Amino acid sequence: MLNKKSVEDIEVKGKKVLVRCDFNVPLADGKITDETRIDGALPTIKYLINAGAKVILCSHMGKPKGEPKPELSLAPVAKALSAKLGKEVVFAADDNVVGENAKKAVAEMAEGDVVLLENTRYRIEETKNVAEFSKELASLADVFVNDAFGTAHRAHCSNVGVTEYLDTAACGYLIQKEIEFLGNAVNNPVRPLVAVLGGSKVSSKISVINNLLEKVDTLIIGGGMAYTFMKALGKNVGDSLLEADYIDYAKEMMEKADKKGVKLLIPVDTVVAKEFNNDAESKISENGIEDGWMGLDIGPKTVELFSNALKDAKTVVWNGPMGVFEMPNFAKGTNAIANVLAEIDATTIIGGGDSVAAVNQAGLGNKMSHISTGGGASLEFLEGKDLPGIVAINDK
Ligand code: 3PG
Repeated sequence: MLNKKSVEDIEVKGKKVLVRCDFNVPLADGKITDETRIDGALPTIKYLINAGAKVILCSHMGKPKGEPKPELSLAPVAKALSAKLGKEVVFAADDNVVGENAKKAVAEMAEGDVVLLENTRYRIEETKNVAEFSKELASLADVFVNDAFGTAHRAHCSNVGVTEYLDTAACGYLIQKEIEFLGNAVNNPVRPLVAVLGGSKVSSKISVINNLLEKVDTLIIGGGMAYTFMKALGKNVGDSLLEADYIDYAKEMMEKADKKGVKLLIPVDTVVAKEFNNDAESKISENGIEDGWMGLDIGPKTVELFSNALKDAKTVVWNGPMGVFEMPNFAKGTNAIANVLAEIDATTIIGGGDSVAAVNQAGLGNKMSHISTGGGASLEFLEGKDLPGIVAINDK
């Protein structure tokens, strides 16, 4: 249980409530291509509207680095939110975020009204957590609610600094839900607990592997990072992704798994290709990979090995695809794992941008117990780190 004040623990009626959301959604030609993060924020926003709060929303979008960039404006989010809430969301289009438009819109708010501020990263102070911008944000509101799980690994003005200048900082339903699922999975799981890690680099998952080996019954490693583990076992990996500096680390992790009685599974066969290209000549390779070939997906025997390890699991955490899932010819391994997760009788948690995209691409998103809205944030949580955005919320 998260021992932090929740939105239900604080007085909000008639109060100006500043809510930090993560509306950092993918955009193409000014259109939002995935609304998951907006949907994730709705329960808290609706609760506050119904409770008679004056709801002032803020978020970052992309990395404008302190400069107003029209293509990273939150205006499309205001539009999408208005449609989802069935009521007007007033967009305060200030390049300096807390400007004349924002102040006027907030001054005119009635209970249940919603205002959305412009991209907080239009201000250079935001990512440096400079007090001046935190104070300006705080000056708009009476209390603060953080519901931006996806940003919880950052210590910025709009999620951490602002809490210094308002007496009350509570969390919203999305943060509660994320911490409940991810926290239970790693700290209080129904066993067997199996973690599936993939993605291209061992180096970006060092702390995750190390921390998860303390918790899991089985650790499955696929994707590009598996080739460094294969090399550590003395196998040839041809032209596959290899982080030579991490071979010793991979050996160390295999020894650690052994000592702890954790089953660590790596691929026993690989779909290899001549080039990094969907239409490249390909074949299945066992017992290592010849020079001139690169591994782009797990092979059928590996799919079977991993599927067997997953079928009796009661809790599964998945972070990172098994191969180059964006290319249909090398998406079979990732899709097979997504299908197994969709079928088993277990709590299934998908954390991290690429695995979420893979599950959604396979059309299986609604078959998973929980899909995290956090990329970096869910990874840091799985590393066992404290997330500054959560730490800054008042304790119960
Ligand atoms: C994310 O997309 O992971 C969050 O919105 C955080 O964005 P950032 O990596 O630009 O800080």
